[in-house]
Amino acid sequence: MLIELPRHTEIFGCVKIHELQKVLKFESNSFESPLLRGVSREEIDEILHKTVVIVPVKDEKLHLLDGVLRSIPQGCEIIVVSNSQRGENDVFRMEKEIVSNFHRVTKHPITMIHQKDPGLSVAFKEAGYEVILDNSGFVRNGKAEGMVVGLTLAKNMNKDYVCFVDADNYIPCSVNEYIKLYATGFILSKTPYSMVRLHWRYKPKVMEDRLYFKKWGRVSEITNRFLNLLISIHTGFETNIIKTGNAGEHGMSMKLAEIMAHSTGYSVEPYQLIYLLEEFWKGDSKFKEAVNLGIEVYQIETLNPHVHEDKGDEHIKEMLFGSLSTIYHSKLANDKIKNEILEELKKNEVIKKEKELKKNKILPPIINMNMKKFIEVLLSHSETLITYQ
Ligand code: GDP
Ligand code: CO
Repeated sequence: MLIELPRHTEIFGCVKIHELQKVLKFESNSFESPLLRGVSREEIDEILHKTVVIVPVKDEKLHLLDGVLRSIPQGCEIIVVSNSQRGENDVFRMEKEIVSNFHRVTKHPITMIHQKDPGLSVAFKEAGYEVILDNSGFVRNGKAEGMVVGLTLAKNMNKDYVCFVDADNYIPCSVNEYIKLYATGFILSKTPYSMVRLHWRYKPKVMEDRLYFKKWGRVSEITNRFLNLLISIHTGFETNIIKTGNAGEHGMSMKLAEIMAHSTGYSVEPYQLIYLLEEFWKGDSKFKEAVNLGIEVYQIETLNPHVHEDKGDEHIKEMLFGSLSTIYHSKLANDKIKNEILEELKKNEVIKKEKELKKNKILPPIINMNMKKFIEVLLSHSETLITYQ
């Protein structure tokens, strides 16, 4: 991988956020110059063998899930966390077939579980993490909850890196690029606490009879603008550093992932940045090793465009709502930014009144869970866990 080095980095306490970096060439030899870093296949390969890829999936087209799995690079562990329909129209059963066929043909190790597995309920309870359960005792619906299920399983695989790829991707090989970019970010990082977030230049749409390469995401633009404003009101300097507020596709070192908090609803990704700023810039974090060694956030623009399932205007509104309400409720927000968020949401017909801006539930870091207990209980109670080695 040949990638630009960040020319500019902003520092918030022990958190460094690097400027957006572009990929210049997909393959390279290993070298470093003041402006560029070439990362060799061998270097990437070494990281991939220490990586777990988590694929959250809920009722996506089976073809898409299949393509995503097939383009995950050799060497990574895979965990599929499904919250798909069961019962009469058993989507989960069909996903299981995709997964077992994938393993039979490729021999790639893969683990799969259903989010509503009763064994997960007991395991989370016994491990002291009931916050993830709903009133009926099952793991709640939601992508964040699925991510935490995946993280907890990954933690038990003793790997150093964990990353997420969505299952609704129409360009399978872009997933191969994403995972190699996460690895590249981890190689650049000078600390064991690092995060890599992806940015896309284009989001192609079919317009009449041709493909139109529309610039990436309106929701992302709005989220980024408010996240940058949130920073500016504290530093007194206008900034544009944040380009990946809604980076659904991202990776973290396991050390960072286990001290990360997760916001539910459609606000996981912007909240990660807010959490880092609240906890490690304006807060007095109890995670002293992270404070001492520092945290780095990389933002990388991919070569591939991002083409995923179009889930309609309602989904866009929910994303805007989730993203902005998490900024609104941040400890870092002042009245000015709160008012601007309200106006933005009203303008986009997302809400009518302030009281609709409910606070999203936050899932705390998994570091305090009793992992030994979790895995012991899960293995004896799970009804859906499948591990192919
Ligand atoms: P967007 O791409 O950020 O607009 O959001 P998507 O709706 O595409 O969701 C991202 C990924 O999370 C997709 O692979 C979804 O299938 C998956 N997903 C959505 N909701 C859930 C859930 O409740 N549980 C799990 N495990 N995955 C989910
Ligand atoms: Co999607």
